[in-house]
Amino acid sequence: LRVAALASGRGSNLAALIAARLPVEFVLVGSDKPSAGALDVARQAGIPTVAMQAKDFADRVAFDRALFGAVAEARPDLLVLAGYMRIIDASVVAAWEGRAINIHPSLLPKYRGMHTHRRCLEAGDTEHGASVHFVTAELDGGPVVAQARIAVGPTDTEETLATRLLVEEHTLLPAVVGAIASGRLQWRGLAMFDGKPLE
Ligand code: GRF
Repeated sequence: LRVAALASGRGSNLAALIAARLPVEFVLVGSDKPSAGALDVARQAGIPTVAMQAKDFADRVAFDRALFGAVAEARPDLLVLAGYMRIIDASVVAAWEGRAINIHPSLLPKYRGMHTHRRCLEAGDTEHGASVHFVTAELDGGPVVAQARIAVGPTDTEETLATRLLVEEHTLLPAVVGAIASGRLQWRGLAMFDGKPLE
């Protein structure tokens, strides 16, 4: 399975994915931040990289077309958004239906968007988690294929939640990519696992 990834930050999810030694070939890592640590993670793993800056483009969709065009040139079977912090133009996302997954630090459908840990604490939730979902034009709205849960304690802060959740993410994302690589998780217009639709 040819895998490309997009990341905006330090790339710990990308690093975990690479370290999982899945039967996949990483063909490209891209970023909207030329200084993203994720690019260093890729370089150390010998994976080709591409970085583009929004300020170099006329508008958002021009940026998205350029970056996703570069991803498409690498001919990936799967695109993993591993901490990619931009909202992607719907017309660009449409071309990747069923071929792009995202990891989001909340128990979707709760807390789509940003600041999930803070919102979880503010709501007084006793549980938090991360979700991997197929990417659709609806922000953090695509079919959820797997989740990891953690308990929220009375002394938890945004930082302690994020740190503890990241550990779970580093297992969850590789598990999903492995399921796709093995053919157990598929996209047939909807997410299927072992031949059965995921509701
Ligand atoms: C993770 O919490 C992920 O859920 C969210 O952004 C963070 C990425 O962290 N999308 P990293 O760059 O993979 O360390």
